[in-house]
Amino acid sequence: MQTVEDLRARAHRLMPRFVLEYLEAGSGEEATLAREREAFAEWRVIPHTLVDESTRDVSAPILGSKAPLPLAIAPTGLNGIFMHHADLALARAAAASGVPFIQSTMSNDRMEQVAAIDGLRHWWQLYVFGGEEVWQELVDRAERAGCEALVLTTNAQIFGQRDWDKRDRAPSGFPDAADLLNAATHPRWAVTTLTGGLPEFANVIDFVPKDRRSFFDSANWIRHQMPKTLSWRDVARIRDRWTRPFFVKGILNPDDVQQALDCGVDGVMLGAHGGRQADWSVSALDVLPRAREIVGDRIELYISGGIRRGSDILKACALGADAVLAGRAPLYGLCAHGEDGVRKAIELLRSEMLNELGQYGVPGLDKLSRYLLVRTENLPL
Ligand SMILES: Cc1cc2nc3c(=O)[nH]c(=O)nc-3n(C[C@H](O)[C@H](O)[C@H](O)COP(=O)(O)O)c2cc1C
Repeated sequence: MQTVEDLRARAHRLMPRFVLEYLEAGSGEEATLAREREAFAEWRVIPHTLVDESTRDVSAPILGSKAPLPLAIAPTGLNGIFMHHADLALARAAAASGVPFIQSTMSNDRMEQVAAIDGLRHWWQLYVFGGEEVWQELVDRAERAGCEALVLTTNAQIFGQRDWDKRDRAPSGFPDAADLLNAATHPRWAVTTLTGGLPEFANVIDFVPKDRRSFFDSANWIRHQMPKTLSWRDVARIRDRWTRPFFVKGILNPDDVQQALDCGVDGVMLGAHGGRQADWSVSALDVLPRAREIVGDRIELYISGGIRRGSDILKACALGADAVLAGRAPLYGLCAHGEDGVRKAIELLRSEMLNELGQYGVPGLDKLSRYLLVRTENLPL
């Protein structure tokens, strides 16, 4: 396992088809999903040589506390279909690696159980669904559990056009016979995932009507309870209730970056939900330089989408990101080797960063700048 791509290849050998489709696929024609990788390829580095590279450093402050690399594990829902207690495994790996773990509202392990992990920087990702009492209770619980930050996801009130999902599932929302047959040919997955029974949305299941609480049905039910009226007024109300650092996630339009700033957030997470929501959108990397101009040094600015290599993180930092979120990269590690695989994914990204930083002739992240990069359309120099 020398690269995140190796972990991905092993994940593809071990996971059944419907699980891989959930993990990998994007929405619509998957133009956004593709853009999230293309955007990195459009920047080339102009390295320096003969620079003292003996003390390279890729550590970075995240909310003022030092992390070994500028990365947090992105919130991902339904992790329980990759393995039993997947959220705990991701969180333990995050704690061991010294990076924050952002737990999704749609996670399958209880928030309080995750919060009990020693040394974890535990952040809570909030989806607003159902009545007011749901978000208020989740925010209060996150406060009691000691979560360091709250992350409001803003771009998923209408569920993306996931054609693969619609095509594959029987009308009940349950995998069809062909999927079940395919799953039966992946015994290792069946043992590590189904030993505890099908997972449930442990943090929100009490809000779901009793007759809709099976795994697939509850996911469908919750999806349909997302208010389509969520607005900047709600962001301001959530901001008021939550006293610790507060981020909005899923922002791409520079005007919205400005709105977020005006709402008093502590950070913006630019992103297109891993290409799973609006199709044909720009990627976070495309918006990053403009967003940095808008926010200056006033708040933290992160991006998510397409992080597979240490060089991706370096490009993001050079273009103005304080940190990045990685969704699929740690999940490939999880599917390939459980908690150890997640640690491996993070360590690979870190060691690649360290090596590439030296190759670029830059001693530390604070010395990265936009002038180290050039867009391919501006070549030759
Ligand atoms: C399987 C999967 C589930 C996701 N679930 C959530 C979620 O519950 N909440 C959320 O805010 N974002 C969710 N996302 C988006 C991620 O937080 C992140 O923005 C995205 O994965 C970044 O792209 P990457 O996978 O290329 O790193 C999900 C992404 C994936 C791949």
